[in-house]
Amino acid sequence: MATIYLLLVLSALIFTAQAQQGQSNIVKPGSLLTPATTTNSSWLSPSGLYAFGFYKQGYGYAVGIFIEGIPQKTVVWTANRDDSPVPADAILNFTSDGQLVLQSAQQGTKTSIANSPGVATSASMLDSGNFVLHNSDNNTIWQSFDQPTDTLLPSQHLLVQKVLSSSVSDSNHSTGRFLLLMQQDGYLAMYPVGTPYTIEYGYWNYVTPGQENNAKLNLDDNGHLYLDSINGKAGIVDLNIGDNSTKGLLYLLRIDADGILRLYSHNMDQNGTWSVTWSQPDDKCAPKGLCGLNAYCVETDQSFGCNCLPGFALINQSEMSSGCERNFTAESCKASMPYTMEAVNNTTWEDKNISVLSSSTQEACKAACLQDCNCDAAQFKQGECKKQSLPLRFGRLLESDPNIAFIKVSISTPTTARNVPKKSKKEVLIISVSLVAFAFIMLVIFGIVRYGYRVWACKKESNHGNIVLSEDVSLQSFTYAELEKVTDNFKEELGRGAFGIVYKGEIGNGKKLVAVKRLEKLLAEREREFQSEMKVIGRTHHKNLVHLLGYCHDGLNRLLVYEYMSNGSLADILFTPEKQPCWDQRMEIARDIAKGILYLHEECMPHIIHCDIKPQNILMDENMCAKISDFGLSKLLKPDQTKTFTGIRGTRGYVAPEWHRKMSVTVKVDVYSFGIVLLEIICCRKGVDYNILEEEAILEEWAYHCFECGELGKLVGDDKVDKKQLERITKVALWCILYEPSLRPSIKKVLQMLEGTMDIPDPPSRSVASSVWSKE
Ligand SMILES: *[C@@H]1O[C@H](CO)[C@@H](O)[C@H](O)[C@H]1NC(C)=O
Ligand SMILES: *[C@@H]1O[C@H](CO)[C@@H](O)[C@H](O)[C@H]1NC(C)=O
Ligand SMILES: *[C@@H]1O[C@H](CO)[C@@H](O)[C@H](O)[C@H]1NC(C)=O
Ligand SMILES: *[C@@H]1O[C@H](CO)[C@@H](O)[C@H](O)[C@H]1NC(C)=O
Ligand SMILES: *[C@@H]1O[C@H](CO)[C@@H](O)[C@H](O)[C@H]1NC(C)=O
Ligand SMILES: *[C@@H]1O[C@H](CO)[C@@H](O)[C@H](O)[C@H]1NC(C)=O
Ligand SMILES: *[C@@H]1O[C@H](CO)[C@@H](O)[C@H](O)[C@H]1NC(C)=O
Ligand SMILES: *[C@@H]1O[C@H](CO)[C@@H](O)[C@H](O)[C@H]1NC(C)=O
Ligand SMILES: *[C@@H]1O[C@H](CO)[C@@H](O)[C@H](O)[C@H]1NC(C)=O
Ligand SMILES: *[C@@H]1O[C@H](CO)[C@@H](O)[C@H](O)[C@H]1NC(C)=O
Ligand SMILES: *[C@@H]1O[C@H](CO)[C@@H](O)[C@H](O)[C@H]1NC(C)=O
Repeated sequence: MATIYLLLVLSALIFTAQAQQGQSNIVKPGSLLTPATTTNSSWLSPSGLYAFGFYKQGYGYAVGIFIEGIPQKTVVWTANRDDSPVPADAILNFTSDGQLVLQSAQQGTKTSIANSPGVATSASMLDSGNFVLHNSDNNTIWQSFDQPTDTLLPSQHLLVQKVLSSSVSDSNHSTGRFLLLMQQDGYLAMYPVGTPYTIEYGYWNYVTPGQENNAKLNLDDNGHLYLDSINGKAGIVDLNIGDNSTKGLLYLLRIDADGILRLYSHNMDQNGTWSVTWSQPDDKCAPKGLCGLNAYCVETDQSFGCNCLPGFALINQSEMSSGCERNFTAESCKASMPYTMEAVNNTTWEDKNISVLSSSTQEACKAACLQDCNCDAAQFKQGECKKQSLPLRFGRLLESDPNIAFIKVSISTPTTARNVPKKSKKEVLIISVSLVAFAFIMLVIFGIVRYGYRVWACKKESNHGNIVLSEDVSLQSFTYAELEKVTDNFKEELGRGAFGIVYKGEIGNGKKLVAVKRLEKLLAEREREFQSEMKVIGRTHHKNLVHLLGYCHDGLNRLLVYEYMSNGSLADILFTPEKQPCWDQRMEIARDIAKGILYLHEECMPHIIHCDIKPQNILMDENMCAKISDFGLSKLLKPDQTKTFTGIRGTRGYVAPEWHRKMSVTVKVDVYSFGIVLLEIICCRKGVDYNILEEEAILEEWAYHCFECGELGKLVGDDKVDKKQLERITKVALWCILYEPSLRPSIKKVLQMLEGTMDIPDPPSRSVASSVWSKE
């Protein structure tokens, strides 16, 4: 009873505080907003047209700016748009020290809404739709107009090198697939998100006749859209100037979820809806990647449709643009499986050929792809056959284009084929002598290529003194309240990863530092699996694995407590120039990682495939010993989260190609990721980096190039490295990232190569390697 009374008093206080602010529309520090309808959930602009505050998003709320004064409340800006929605207990706190903070006790999060450089003494929602923060000198220190999401409002400018990025959908305002960029060279252009800003990826552009540098995009109150530069204005959309019919209309420019840029108008006098005044491009299928991976866009009268390639099915049946995946499980090349090639006429695709056959015929093109394990599809046009690997992107039907896509599909009924043991299928080594030689070398080096998981009992390895197997390790189980105390109410954030946010904590009265990971995005119903996974992870013990100390499974909360790693992640030290370790230390790190993976793959029971090896998941202890974290968690994640495609020229990041080919996932996916990490360790740079020369941007391609040209020294720059050693280690990495999983060495072989002194054969060229294994 007392609490209810207190709440009433509190809300009355808030109410009066804000009613007072309402008169001037200036919000002072100490003000709060909450999503609840009983209190104020937004701050209005003086005319009441715009509001800043909470709006409904998914199962929770987001903070943003929306047009409150029209029936169809339209969101024009969202703070931290890619964060998950906050629950109903959230509070937007304009703190007395001048920060705008979104806090949720239930989620234990505190996020800054406006990363302003100073202390704000007032905030205002303006009638232009701009939300501004002022300091004590009445200077604007932050404004939402400088951080546009997908919408440009009248009087707002899109400055040079700024983008508008589309939302996921009308109801989900997270970053979607397309963006509009105001380029430095005066071009206004649209691209798919995650591609380089070059002409081959753009799908629309506009430039002023004189092509002025440093132009900015403006929209004015009358719906004129123009580029503004030192030489004046150039109209993109000029409505009849002086025509009074545009008066009383509200305009906005938005790049929509379908990649089309639209200028909308809304008649304020009538109960209208938004109508489209102008839009570009006209061609609905022009936005590249509209249908997702392995699908192609087909224009219809009003809109567009998406078709999957033959042998493929939608990833999400109820989501047309989700992209497609093989509807059969492919086998590794070695296990020969009958395939056939199906044609899709008159479609265009991104070309990321793995090899090209000139003066070919359709039949020869199909046959060449069938014989090549790396080849999942081919594009045939005017006698040129370009072999492709999955996924295919940017597909669309274009009646005028004679390009044919040939797709490799399974003939046999897939589900049974997978489980029936294959008896008489014999592998044959084919084609040229050189290929046979490759195979021979490989067989010698790697022994018989093994598949999948071998089930080894987990044993105490006396030769690896560091492995201690304790069958009955008891993980400590924490309550949520305990972990709140341990982390001092989730005060200090250590980092963010695929699984959630990590906080620093102390147990045993500050005697021991720990890292507490709050898991997000888990499948909610998987309670029992969570417990059993915890047991599995709790049993692992190796000096190159981050040790799990305990967990919390309390209501909806899932948290893990790990030992604290004082030197951050490998990504930190590798990609921060001041922190980069010397070559010998780096090689030590590479061996440590390989040892950790070896333990997961072969020494512990049950074996664990990590599925997400990357420098962010490798942590460094106080002695700079590398330890792998996040192992054993991939099973708990929703499907597909591990398969992210970086989107840049077919780059998979750390993700092995078989994820995209729908082959069964084996330990070799970790070997692939390790190979990419090894290249990063060699070069002290990220696998994909568009801040450097284009031909060097994708590390795996550049490393191959340097290797083939005998210019490995370029990889390490000024770093003094023994040439022989550099060559050996690079070769190991290139073996690890072979496209065909069965050709990649096991992690044990990798470790031997990293440690040993034996010669390492040249890795096969990527385009030929696969042809080694074929079938009759
Ligand atoms: C707060 O909400 C009340 C109604 O719940 C409203 O009368 C008042 O004007 C609001 N104040 C502001 C500043 O929006
Ligand atoms: C919005 O879309 C993103 C990306 O697809 C997704 O991760 C997120 O969960 C969605 N949010 C809501 C509220 O549905
Ligand atoms: C708002 O933030 C301040 C400073 O962080 C804090 O003292 C205050 O308790 C917060 N208000 C609410 C209602 O949480
Ligand atoms: C702050 O500046 C605006 C104009 O930029 C002015 O209207 C307002 O009165 C000023 N406020 C104070 C407190 O000086
Ligand atoms: C627009 O309105 C103004 C006054 O409001 C009037 O003088 C002018 O003639 C009108 N122009 C047109 C094209 O109707
Ligand atoms: C707008 O709609 C409201 C109710 O939805 C109605 O009362 C009002 O008359 C409408 N106004 C016009 C101009 O249609
Ligand atoms: C896969 O899709 C093709 C059509 O693209 C269909 O003919 C085939 O039956 C499907 N296979 C399975 C297993 O669903
Ligand atoms: C499929 O798409 C629908 C509609 O967008 C969404 O609600 C649903 O969660 C998606 N299913 C999966 C498994 O992602
Ligand atoms: C594709 O084009 C070929 C001619 O190149 C034609 O024989 C075939 O029937 C076409 N297929 C479809 C589905 O239109
Ligand atoms: C094949 O791809 C490479 C690089 O991806 C490119 O340089 C080359 O031009 C392509 N070949 C053809 C014939 O398109
Ligand atoms: C469609 O593709 C077929 C097969 O390549 C080709 O013969 C035909 O000319 C293409 N259609 C057009 C309109 O170019």
